[in-house]
Amino acid sequence: MAVGLKNIWVLSRKAIDQRFDRQFGVNTSGRVELTELTIECGRRQSGVYYEPTPRRTFFQILRSLHIEYSRFDFVDFGCGKGRTLLMASRLPFRTIHGVEFARELADEARGNVQRFVDPRRACFDIAVSCADAANFAIPDRPVLLYLFNPFGPDVMKAIVGNIEDALERGTPEVLVVYYHPLSLDIFEASPYLECVARRRLVFDLASPQLRGYAVFRGQRARAGRRPCA
Ligand SMILES: C[S@@+](CC[C@H](N)C(=O)[O-])C[C@H]1O[C@@H](n2cnc3c(N)ncnc32)[C@H](O)[C@@H]1O
Repeated sequence: MAVGLKNIWVLSRKAIDQRFDRQFGVNTSGRVELTELTIECGRRQSGVYYEPTPRRTFFQILRSLHIEYSRFDFVDFGCGKGRTLLMASRLPFRTIHGVEFARELADEARGNVQRFVDPRRACFDIAVSCADAANFAIPDRPVLLYLFNPFGPDVMKAIVGNIEDALERGTPEVLVVYYHPLSLDIFEASPYLECVARRRLVFDLASPQLRGYAVFRGQRARAGRRPCA
């Protein structure tokens, strides 16, 4: 009986997760392990498998920010097959950029961007780079960096260092949206980043588990740091 209920739950979750793909004729759902993929940088070990952010969760988080999207570039570090890029294009971001180190996933993301037709689309400037997120140059304009638990502490530390350098160089505003934030301490330790929102659990039928998120705002070195409450 319990096994039957579990199967029903897994199948319903899968169906909800695939609804986005059926609606837009794209391929963004499912989990993909990194073992068989082509990754040319030496970071495979710290990378986390591909799994897309559920649609409902993504919009719930983005809408909670209350920002003027058109002021920001959107960057997803570890964009996988690019579902976040497609979803973000419904909001009027200045530009949208996905960074993915596995070649097959980056190619799939580019194909999805080309196939995606949505009458509610508000941003058409979307690019995908096949690269290590640790080497991505953070733009010198207001930027929203999106992370869904993409990699371990080594790459996360490099990203935080890049954010700090960008702020020192004069990037006016950096917002970090960190979904399923397993390396929160690295962000909290930065004198440049302030935790402005933290939700421990977000319920979404399409997600295999309850996950939370944190939002950080980057500014040039702050006097008093405040960890996530
Ligand atoms: C959990 S998935 C998140 C997918 C996507 N961001 C989303 O929310 O739908 C993590 C992704 O990060 C990618 N990744 C891991 N390490 C990376 C790195 N160093 N540089 C770029 N991409 C990386 C993985 O290949 C995988 O596609």
